[in-house]
Amino acid sequence: MRKMLKVTLAASLGLLAVVFAVGGSTTTAAEDKTPAVSEIMKKSFGKGGFKSAIPAAAKDGKWDDAQKLAKEWNDLGKVIGKNKPPKGEDASWKEQCAKFGDATKAILKATEDKDAKAVNKSVGGFNCGACHKAHKP
Ligand code: HEC
Repeated sequence: MRKMLKVTLAASLGLLAVVFAVGGSTTTAAEDKTPAVSEIMKKSFGKGGFKSAIPAAAKDGKWDDAQKLAKEWNDLGKVIGKNKPPKGEDASWKEQCAKFGDATKAILKATEDKDAKAVNKSVGGFNCGACHKAHKP
């Protein structure tokens, strides 16, 4: 949405090339492949995100679905730390991202074990506040 606005604005000013050049220089090669933190947050915790979808699938005994989603989530858990923290110390960010990855790994394992109780417990394994306090702008 923000991007679209930027493009529209730039086009109307005839500064498209300049804006793209500037925009390009702020994204590194790693970020091109790694979803942004806010993207990961929305997919994880937004409406219909992994945190609600996986326990829902597990509750219905749809373990194939639950495992597929948990794999996608764990893939994000592996790469979230490749993003630069929008705020805060790099070392703390690495630590928080490692914990995020541990949590998604535990969820994946719970779905592989087809253990609904463990799924419900493990989706509560994120410390939102600790990470947000240090790193959410
Ligand atoms: C590893 C650190 C970390 C953890 C753990 C974490 N977050 Fe976040 N979250 C962030 C950061 C950093 C941002 C800011 C992203 C930005 O603005 O670029 C964010 C942003 C968000 C947003 C706003 C997304 C948007 O841009 O629309 C939501 C919603 C959110 N987090 C929910 C949660 C919830 C709920 C939890 C816990 C269940 C959680 N987060 C755990 C790091 C984390």
